[in-house]
Amino acid sequence: MDLGIRNKRVIVTAASRGIGYATAKRFLEEGARVVISSHDENKLKEAYSKLREIGEVHYVKADLTSVDEVINLVRKSNDILGGIDVLAYVTGSPKPGNFLELSDNDWEEGFKLLLMSAVVAIRESVKYMRSGGRIILSTSMTLRQPIDNLDLSNVIRLSLAGLIKSASKLLAPRGILVNGIMPGWTLTERVDQLVKDRARRQGKKEEEVIAEITKEIPMARMAQPEEVANVILFLASSLSTYVTGAIIPVDGGITRCTF
Ligand SMILES: NC(=O)c1ccc[n+]([C@@H]2O[C@H](COP(=O)([O-])OP(=O)(O)OC[C@H]3O[C@@H](n4cnc5c(N)ncnc54)[C@H](OP(=O)(O)O)[C@@H]3O)[C@@H](O)[C@H]2O)c1
Repeated sequence: MDLGIRNKRVIVTAASRGIGYATAKRFLEEGARVVISSHDENKLKEAYSKLREIGEVHYVKADLTSVDEVINLVRKSNDILGGIDVLAYVTGSPKPGNFLELSDNDWEEGFKLLLMSAVVAIRESVKYMRSGGRIILSTSMTLRQPIDNLDLSNVIRLSLAGLIKSASKLLAPRGILVNGIMPGWTLTERVDQLVKDRARRQGKKEEEVIAEITKEIPMARMAQPEEVANVILFLASSLSTYVTGAIIPVDGGITRCTF
């Protein structure tokens, strides 16, 4: 099936590993022209070496906690690709911890990583979306259901729902659709980190923690990163022409709220 993604000019952030990497890979498989980004240059180059086997990919190093680097990423991507059609925005993970443990500095870093980077990435990208465009923010199931000891995510990520709504209304007249996804448990290095943290806190084995988590998921398994990436692709594709301001759960049914 032609998803209408061939030759689209795409930025994927936090793309050296995990959900971002899978997203860049899927865009390349569909024939898009892609700029990947993350903040560790060595890991970014490793990802680039693998992805260049699939299609036209470029890399620009950018730490999402730096406004200047996010601006530079978008400008350079525009220079490289000759415009921008899609911003597939993924971030790094905030530090685990509850609000009694987290420092003021942790909150400031969390704000920069999770919210400010999204504001700047959207604001800069739309300057180069001259004939419509798609913006997809990958957030988290914590938008709907807090997770213990992930208070930076539980609190700050909620603001992305407001950003998606505000941006979608503002940008709809320009043909730019803005949506989000809320991944649930997805098999990446982030999950390894969270499982280790929970095992340490609760004095349990990692296998026990994994079994407890999957017991809560109606589909009884975690997602593969590609399963999350495919929903981002859908929102960037010609199959999705009347969806904006939406935030789609991709969580195997784990969030219990009705809407
Ligand atoms: N996996 C899950 O179950 C799950 C569920 C819901 C939400 N999420 C969220 O989805 C996002 C991606 O998760 P993941 O599981 O794919 O994580 P991951 O496998 O740990 O990958 C994280 C990616 O973020 C990049 N990154 C980290 N800090 C960065 C920074 N300051 N600036 C730029 N890039 C940075 C990393 O690049 P470097 O190589 O530069 O470190 C890497 O590419 C995270 O925000 C996570 O909290 C994950």
